Amino acid sequence: MANSEAVYLNGNYSPKNQTKLSILDRGFLFGDGVYELIPIYNKHIFYIENHLNRLRSSLELINIDSSIVDNDEFTKIIKSLIDLNSYVNHYIYIHISRGVDKKRNHIYTKDSEPTILIMGENYQPFDKKTIKSGKRAIIEEDYRWLKSNIKSTSLLANVLIKNKAFTNDAYEALLLRDDYLTEGSASNVFIVDNGVIKTPKLSNKLLPGITRKFLTDLIKEKSLKFEECDISKGALLSSDEIFCSSSTNPVVPITQVDSISISNNAGPISMKLYEHAQQFIKDSYK
Ligand code: PDD
Repeated sequence: MANSEAVYLNGNYSPKNQTKLSILDRGFLFGDGVYELIPIYNKHIFYIENHLNRLRSSLELINIDSSIVDNDEFTKIIKSLIDLNSYVNHYIYIHISRGVDKKRNHIYTKDSEPTILIMGENYQPFDKKTIKSGKRAIIEEDYRWLKSNIKSTSLLANVLIKNKAFTNDAYEALLLRDDYLTEGSASNVFIVDNGVIKTPKLSNKLLPGITRKFLTDLIKEKSLKFEECDISKGALLSSDEIFCSSSTNPVVPITQVDSISISNNAGPISMKLYEHAQQFIKDSYK
């Protein structure tokens, strides 16, 4: 049964449906924490070092001692969860909050021990047919905070925006800050313009996606044309192709934005990159 899977909480393994947290946990009261979502491909952990480096960076940016994340220890825990739950193709969610305080208080003390939760999550990536036909997106103002490089569990704005996309029959919302593209509500965004793959530069306005890093590694390896640059709303809407990237779906072509058609089906460069990504995963995680 899915919810009797083993999860890891603060040093112990227990069934998911029986694992409980304190109501004074700052993750629950304030969204005071950070997280990671890591794909498991054929029982192997994808880009583990990059994910754990980003987790440490997120912790440092919210003033939690990042040495609590040890690569060997975390890898061991994730491998135990893979074995205990017989995960083959799955996702691992890591959640670290500032921990449990004596009372609800915006001001945190240095005494609380961070809460560390690690558990499996089951997402179904899109099949190739869906990828080929592409998805719809809406445009939304990026009204989130200016520390979007932190993979924070405070996701209310992202949740509201993603649900607006969902209720408008769209897969994703493409976010504009001062009329320039930042990212999606739960993904990074790329465009293809005259054969050049473009994506916004890393900054405090967007998450340094691990899939973004994976795709830029692939783009370089395959000698595709690539540029990190500012992308205006006009450039976005007049681009030849758009695709989103995230751990749940490495490449999702966007064929329509609001009522504007970008392409009839997934564009050739998006599909090429999708195929390269699938091939890399197949070859690397045997
Ligand atoms: N989210 N930007 C945002 C705002 C995201 O939430 C995500 C991923 C990404 C892509 O990051 P990565 O390639 O490392 O998955 C970019 C995950 C999937 C989530 O919140 O569940």
